[in-house]
Amino acid sequence: MNAFSPPTLPPTPDYDAWPIEADIRSVDHDARVLTLSWSDGRKSRYHSIWLRENAADESTVNPATRERILDLSSLPAWPEIVAAEIDESGALCVTFAPEHRHLRFHPGWLRAHDYDNAGDPEAPLVPVRRWHGGPDASPDSLDASGLLDTEPASEAEEAILAPALESVLGKGLVRLRGLPTEPGSLEAIARRIGPLRPTNFGLLFDVKAKPNPDSNAYTSIALPPHTDLPTREYHPGLQMLHCLENSVEGGQAVMLDGFAVAEALRQRDPDAFATLTRVHWCYANTAKTSDYVWYSPMIRLDAHGELLEVRIADFLRGPLQAPFEEVEATYDALMTLQAMLREPGFAIRFTYAPGDLVIFDNRRLLHARDAFEGTSGHRWLQGCYMERDEIRSRYRMVQRARRRRWIAASQQV
Ligand SMILES: [Fe+2]
Repeated sequence: MNAFSPPTLPPTPDYDAWPIEADIRSVDHDARVLTLSWSDGRKSRYHSIWLRENAADESTVNPATRERILDLSSLPAWPEIVAAEIDESGALCVTFAPEHRHLRFHPGWLRAHDYDNAGDPEAPLVPVRRWHGGPDASPDSLDASGLLDTEPASEAEEAILAPALESVLGKGLVRLRGLPTEPGSLEAIARRIGPLRPTNFGLLFDVKAKPNPDSNAYTSIALPPHTDLPTREYHPGLQMLHCLENSVEGGQAVMLDGFAVAEALRQRDPDAFATLTRVHWCYANTAKTSDYVWYSPMIRLDAHGELLEVRIADFLRGPLQAPFEEVEATYDALMTLQAMLREPGFAIRFTYAPGDLVIFDNRRLLHARDAFEGTSGHRWLQGCYMERDEIRSRYRMVQRARRRRWIAASQQV
């Protein structure tokens, strides 16, 4: 910067991009609270201690990692504001005592983290839309044929992935079509979203009838609606099933929105719903060389009473170990839920075509399969697991890229 250049906006304590939706018009403060008045009339209050720990300077954040290095308890006293102003770049400049430290704050970042006017900061990235099935229903389906030809993290990749991520975050399900059918190609496709979660069934697992199966999935029998691996403390948040071959008779895929079923149960039979959110079931996956067991309610809610996960797999339920007087009511609630899972109004049914990839929230969606005639052809799916965190992280990266483009475009105008 030469002597005549105006100051540029300061860095933010993260790697994100924060468009300036409104300018700071004025600032007022006392020792512990600072109030900003924005150009659109909003007023935002910030505590001195909150501002101090969220500064982006090198005494607060390691510039190499953008992670905090400041330990608030190491300050000689509670940070207080002795002066505050807006500089020529539009940044907020604050002088803190007793450090006598002068720190600058990015207005876009301050506005985006305005906890005085915030909604629920933990609200889902994409609103949850529960859905019902029926004979005419089908999953959101997208052409993904060029996905592996795009540059990773490019705008072309984003054009394919962004709507897919939105469907998974909002509805728990998407079907991508037109993907390669080479065995193993699922790994490269999945890595476009994030790292895979290996399990005792492998990084990728083959869903096809095979001799000496270690799961009902590896036979040609029907599978009831279920979530995979409820036997783990954290059962995988996402599952992907990639069709390589399908020439059998039968074997239709069935998907249900577990949140829609659970919500319907809450309306129809609140006592059964409450029982299934409280009583712990045993989930067990005991094989010749492994022994996974976990205890959990069948339906879990978050702190606001919203649905967090369902954990349903009848063939993996171990012996119930509930309090004696709760056993009959617990089985009654289970059977009420099981009867609802058979209602055709909840289910989407579809047939896999080679090159299809279904991505679904394994802690929300239930998947099932009709029996198929193993000698009528070949049915080969490859699958893998991933965590919900990966899809949320990937979607935040999409949002970040969109904000960067918006800022770049607005600076060219
Ligand atoms: Fe499964």
